Amino acid sequence: MTDYRIKQHPILAVPAEPEVGFTWQGRALKARAGETIASALFANGVRVFGHHFKDRAPQGIFCANGQCAQCSVIADGLPVKSCMVPVTEGMAVMPMEGKPVLPEVDEAEVQFRDIETLQVECLILGGGPAGLSAAVELGKAGVGVLLVDDKAALGGKLVLQTHKFFGSIEACHAGTRGMDIGRRLEQELRHYENVRIWTSSNALAVFSDRKVGVLRDGHYFLVQPQVLLVATGAREKSLVFKGNSLPGVYGAGAFQTLVNRDLVRPTERLFVVGGGNVGLIAAYHALQAGIQVVGLCEALPECGGYKVHKDKLARMGVPIYTSHTVLSANGREEVESVTIAKLDHQWNPIPGTERTFSCDTVLVAVGLEPVNEFLQKAREFGLPVFAAGDAEEIAEASAAMFTGKIRGLEIARTLGRDVGEVPPEWHRTAEVLKSRPGATITEENPEAEQGVFPVFHCSQEIPCNPCTSICPQGSIQIEGGDILGVPTFNEKDCIACEQCVAICPGLAVTLVDYRRGEDEVLVTIPYEFPAETLVVDQPVTVLDTLGQVLGNVPVAKLRAPKSADHAVLVKVHAPRNIAKQIAGIRVQQPWVGEAMPEVVRRLDDDEVVCRCERVTAGEIRKLIRGGLRDLNELKAATRAGMGACGGKTCPSLILRIFREEGVAPSEITELTRRPIFMEVPLGAFAGLVVGEGPAPDVAKAHATHAFQGGL
Ligand code: FES
Repeated sequence: MTDYRIKQHPILAVPAEPEVGFTWQGRALKARAGETIASALFANGVRVFGHHFKDRAPQGIFCANGQCAQCSVIADGLPVKSCMVPVTEGMAVMPMEGKPVLPEVDEAEVQFRDIETLQVECLILGGGPAGLSAAVELGKAGVGVLLVDDKAALGGKLVLQTHKFFGSIEACHAGTRGMDIGRRLEQELRHYENVRIWTSSNALAVFSDRKVGVLRDGHYFLVQPQVLLVATGAREKSLVFKGNSLPGVYGAGAFQTLVNRDLVRPTERLFVVGGGNVGLIAAYHALQAGIQVVGLCEALPECGGYKVHKDKLARMGVPIYTSHTVLSANGREEVESVTIAKLDHQWNPIPGTERTFSCDTVLVAVGLEPVNEFLQKAREFGLPVFAAGDAEEIAEASAAMFTGKIRGLEIARTLGRDVGEVPPEWHRTAEVLKSRPGATITEENPEAEQGVFPVFHCSQEIPCNPCTSICPQGSIQIEGGDILGVPTFNEKDCIACEQCVAICPGLAVTLVDYRRGEDEVLVTIPYEFPAETLVVDQPVTVLDTLGQVLGNVPVAKLRAPKSADHAVLVKVHAPRNIAKQIAGIRVQQPWVGEAMPEVVRRLDDDEVVCRCERVTAGEIRKLIRGGLRDLNELKAATRAGMGACGGKTCPSLILRIFREEGVAPSEITELTRRPIFMEVPLGAFAGLVVGEGPAPDVAKAHATHAFQGGL
């Protein structure tokens, strides 16, 4: 069987060989220790995890984040979300074919325990950038904190972010990779004994008595906090198009989980839908994992993500189709190709512009929406609550860290700690880090053709300035000192240390060196791919900022200084006439992005809106046209919103169909949200004892019965 594990990665260390034995449909397979069932199946080439009970449609991974239920399988006789449950030795995994049956229970062996209520000063839901940063501030202030996260490891999305962060070094560790920032925050947090951390634990609901239900290791607890901080992050938005529920169509976050967290290569040929930062970065991560990126389409006339991210992709050789939409993902059991088309000014596909690309995966990266149901319920029930990070407002992780820090201080003050006011500059920094990309200016290369100096291929106002902090000469400035501006350099001061080239998160700085006085100039280019792919004296294809080929030039030297943090600084010999325009080295050959000779169309109207209950856009449109305006009625009539994901995935898509049908928002009654927000075995509420009983530190928590500051 083909092994789909990543064996070499320019940034990530490759973990130990798989050695945990399990079976899939009776076939013996191996997993890495701690690996989820979903990742282990992908690593072994399995992408279809079962078939839907309603229409036998093939099911596979979609969110890989515990938010939907599309990846469900039967593990040792019980239905589980394969993206959340680790493989254990000897586990028997079967596909979910139709509805699962309830397991046989030996009533003589069933035991129950009392449900305990834990008092805490502050309960934090979510151990990502915002939750960790808030917990650090609360830890410093001596507040008794319980931090709950549903993953096995802390860090949230930081764990998946192998790229260097934007922002400033002082505010959010700019120039450092997201995964390393996550580790630093966790290390800092673990110093505070007043902060308890429960990983692999699910917050289930906020109840009207202001208690929060939490499931840990199968045991149910009620937590009664004085203050709740919701730092639950975001979930990915879905998109309605033909074939959108085929295995092989999934979210960019799911992809990054497979590739960057679990080092699984889930695809050979990838197409990305969505040109925001998430889609652009996911495509770059794919290239780093040795995956071909066939193309990326964006419905707007320009990508919404940072231009440096888009430019970086274009330079790698990835075709980017703006003003294009996806028409269909094509295939019977799995994705085999994708068809896109150009959009007119009314957002309608222009006939005759359709193109089909062969690919096995379509990533949907069309935006995020806050996981805010806990926040809404806490407000409704009068539980003092704060929100930070994406749960409050969708923005970059750097902004989430900063809002977490602010909320931490605010909560400490609310709880009576003498921590002073939140410094006003913190609020200003948080706002700057949340800024959308600003104006784009035309790239102007310096006039000079002597000496040595950096060239900035960075022509958009974004919150980023590590190059100004790192320059030992202090000679890189941003006009007016504003972090949002574009950097400039005083050429006379350069000592050719290349530190600005090494730190730039957008790989948008090169160094040109004319000091030899020859026709050929040395150009240093940052490169985040395996150094072995380049050879000194051998030619590489160099491109300008927009991805246009400038020519083939020989490599002069390769250097991987510690300051570049796994990136390689590649020096090339370049003719004078192109030296300052060189912005990158091509890593993907042009033929990868070529369209198929024939356009493939998917004929049946199978655009699935509610993927849990397989309710199609056609069914929903018919009811709207018949006068239906209440999402609760729609749910009763079709089951849309009633599925295993708890109605987290489809409501925004349904609202979009209402909009398309010309129904005003004021006419629509939204879905009533009810706890529970995560699936839970009913026995948990009765205190059903599972496994060996509570973990030792839970027992300790019961003994103290409260997490108060200073414990
Ligand atoms: S997609 Fe889960 S309920 Fe609709």
